[in-house]
Amino acid sequence: MKISVCRKAHFNAAHRLHNPEWDDAKNKAIFGKCNNPNFHGHNYQLEVWLSGKIDEETGYLIDLKILSKLIEEEIENRFDHKNLNLDTEEFKTLNPTAENICIVIWNLLRGKLDASLDLKVRLFETDRNIVEYPAI
Ligand code: NI
Repeated sequence: MKISVCRKAHFNAAHRLHNPEWDDAKNKAIFGKCNNPNFHGHNYQLEVWLSGKIDEETGYLIDLKILSKLIEEEIENRFDHKNLNLDTEEFKTLNPTAENICIVIWNLLRGKLDASLDLKVRLFETDRNIVEYPAI
């Protein structure tokens, strides 16, 4: 009998979408305002979903205090109030699209969670633009 739990979090960060292989005109055509050389910010909302079996002793899937601390240490401390392109190792050469940010977050968390837990990360770049990894 499997169950899922979710912990929500958020972080504010700046980014610029840019492909250095392309000239300015093509970058502007593809990425529009998101290619603004002086960056722009988002209030990213994060959902971290875990699935697995309930622990018989605690009645928990995972102690959400532990998940909350993990998200704080691995994600919020790393990305909150940062310029993703300039301030983080993860996006020095990786375009910080919502898709790429979502996969980076999944990888950061995956290694720190028990292998018995399934992990899904959902990232809201705006209320209407949402990405999920692994894919539905
Ligand atoms: Ni943006």
